[in-house]
Amino acid sequence: MEFKTNNEGIESWKEVTLVYNAALRQIETKMEILNDEFQHVHQYNPIEHIKARIKTPESIVKKLKRNGYESTIENMVNYVNDIAGIRIICSFTSDIFRIADMISDQRDIKVIGVKDYITFPKASGYKSYHMIVTVPVYLSDRTVDTKVEIQIRTVAMDFWASLEHKMHYKFEGDAPEHIKNELVECAKLVSDLDARMLSLNEEILSMSHGTQKAIV
Ligand code: GTP
Ligand code: MG
Repeated sequence: MEFKTNNEGIESWKEVTLVYNAALRQIETKMEILNDEFQHVHQYNPIEHIKARIKTPESIVKKLKRNGYESTIENMVNYVNDIAGIRIICSFTSDIFRIADMISDQRDIKVIGVKDYITFPKASGYKSYHMIVTVPVYLSDRTVDTKVEIQIRTVAMDFWASLEHKMHYKFEGDAPEHIKNELVECAKLVSDLDARMLSLNEEILSMSHGTQKAIV
């Protein structure tokens, strides 16, 4: 991604925010359209809700520093992949891969990286499907391919991740052993719950006939 180099400081930062905000809005709209179309064709919403955020300048600077980079516009654009972040929350594990496929199938979206913590959860118990994509943002005089981090997870995984994040924040990586262990246990319960809800949903769907709609 290229930014005008004659425009340092506030102007450049403004431009960065403008471009990333536009990219975020584009992905958000794309997701809403897919969800609407899915509802139309299958009478079912794979997406429960969507959260979008732009990383604060403070955390961008912190991340650059942590990774040993100077705080420049160029470095943040090149090395911080989650300046624009979107989280897609769905009901069932099967929706996660369905949504990921629908995203990669879009012609103007380029997938530049995937981390599948659903198939391979983290040791902490963290589960989520991460994609780094680029989406073109059309400005008056040029097109900027802009990076967006997409996280896709179930409602239950999101519930777990919020609590685990809170723990990290509170203890700054130095959490008591029993709390970490309890969270690992909870992660297993979450996986079990997701699996049981999925098979229950499949059973309900296979039993529904004609005009009956088992799922809304
Ligand atoms: P960051 O430098 O933290 O952005 O991570 P990364 O570049 O190694 O990428 P990764 O895909 O592993 O993580 C990206 C984001 O996923 C993080 O910024 C968090 O929002 C989320 N995440 C990753 N691991 C965990 C975890 O163990 N617990 C929670 N709660 N969130 C996580
Ligand atoms: Mg991050």
